[in-house]
Amino acid sequence: MGDFTPCGDRLNAEETGLLQNAEKMDLSVKGQAEYTALLHTVLGARYGSTPRAFVHTYGCQGNVADGERIKGMLAEMGYTFTDTVENADLVLYNTCAVREHAEDRVFGNVGALKNRKAARPGMVVALCGCMMQQPRVAEKIRRSYSFVDLVFGTHVIHRLPELLYRALCGRNRVFELPDEAGSITEGLPVVRDSSFKAFLPVMYGCNNFCSYCIVPYVRGRERSRMVEAVLEEARSLVEAGYRDITLLGQNVNSYGKDLETPVPFAQLLREINAIPGDFRIRFMTSHPKDCTRELLDAMADCEKVAKHLHLPFQSGNDRVLKEMNRRYTREQYLELIRYARQVMPELSLTSDVIVGFPGETYEAFQDTLSLVEEVGFTSLFTFIFSPREGTPAAKMPDPVSREEKGRWFRELTDLQERVASARNQKLLGKRFRVLVEGPGKKAGLLAGRTEGNLVIEFPGGDSLIGEFVEVVVTEALAWILRGQMEL
Ligand code: SAM
Ligand code: SF4
Ligand code: F3S
Repeated sequence: MGDFTPCGDRLNAEETGLLQNAEKMDLSVKGQAEYTALLHTVLGARYGSTPRAFVHTYGCQGNVADGERIKGMLAEMGYTFTDTVENADLVLYNTCAVREHAEDRVFGNVGALKNRKAARPGMVVALCGCMMQQPRVAEKIRRSYSFVDLVFGTHVIHRLPELLYRALCGRNRVFELPDEAGSITEGLPVVRDSSFKAFLPVMYGCNNFCSYCIVPYVRGRERSRMVEAVLEEARSLVEAGYRDITLLGQNVNSYGKDLETPVPFAQLLREINAIPGDFRIRFMTSHPKDCTRELLDAMADCEKVAKHLHLPFQSGNDRVLKEMNRRYTREQYLELIRYARQVMPELSLTSDVIVGFPGETYEAFQDTLSLVEEVGFTSLFTFIFSPREGTPAAKMPDPVSREEKGRWFRELTDLQERVASARNQKLLGKRFRVLVEGPGKKAGLLAGRTEGNLVIEFPGGDSLIGEFVEVVVTEALAWILRGQMEL
């Protein structure tokens, strides 16, 4: 690696010329392809051998899907990928802003790069994702993290070639953080983390503005991909041997409402189900206020759609739900669950819950516990409320201490463990079709997932990874099942 400084002053005549050309280029996908070609030349000259990129994504599956596109673009520029920041020529963190803890981890990891960068000035440090869309964060990076070369937001991922080129060859650090999302850019290359499980974004953004949530501020308004673009990606995944395809959106039931000819999500599901091949379809997330009977009927009808519904309820108390701006009641939620189970008796349900929302009392929290008991979820994602600057909930009086919320949180997770354990006991002796995902915790064991998203471990050889097998449950714990393969 050379001793140049990204964003520094060591451009040679050829590179200065390239940069001047680059500034005149358009920002379309075609324009980006030209930057990619330029980067090939620049990276080759700068790093000699193949440049290495360390890319780490925090947050939800939507962010993971963005990270896979980022890797796709980097691969086209000539980067290979490394699992450690040591010796990486590019370190890129794709960040999440949903809770304070997620942000703290990013600041910790980025801070740790300061000395590394001092020792290897040629390393490029880049930050992107939801956290960067918050002006206070971008300002902090600008002021206190001078070794960060490139910061870009959630709406300009497709412009990575141009932005990285500017960071490498320009004289200034690059901050590209527009507030507005443009139209969806199709056709980006993708390097997926798995060769048999894939995330397929069907829409971006969120219009719901739940009072605690930062996502609508950092991801913009809902934008749906065209049906044909989704179907084309789904078909190519199936052709490439993918067995488990998860359709992604913050609120998939809003899919298609913004298209010129609106298309309901239920119809999209039916069209993907009609693609020939042996694969499973999952989707997340569904918002209870828009989760229709039409969708549940489509799930029930479509044999490839996993009978697993992730339906976050957040709180079991009507007053708290109202303050959260969730726009459904406990009873409406329970009614949906009743209908879903009527049309899909084997349905596995999972959910998200927030503990300690401002103004939640211990009495109100009891309604969350009773709902968990009543529904019997397969698993729960539980979170202690984290105030997010700029959201209405961050300004609400919040008298309950962190310690107290911690006690409620443990009460909830203990209850869920009992509920899941009791539910799983009923699965003993049952046979499931399982997608083998990788090695289990102990040598000789494989780990896979049932249609209902339960993890099951069983003896077997690595050659089965990525395949469907039949497994009978022989042991049932709260978080995991154990079993034996059957032919
Ligand atoms: N769009 C999905 C929905 O509405 O169900 C959820 C998306 S959000 C990325 C995932 C989960 O994070 C939410 O369901 C909620 O439980 C949790 N969450 C969001 N904001 C939070 C906050 N400020 N504090 C604690 N948990 C939060
Ligand atoms: Fe956040 Fe609510 Fe949108 Fe989900 S639906 S992303 S919780 S605002
Ligand atoms: Fe986090 Fe952004 Fe997803 S805030 S949860 S990465 S949409």
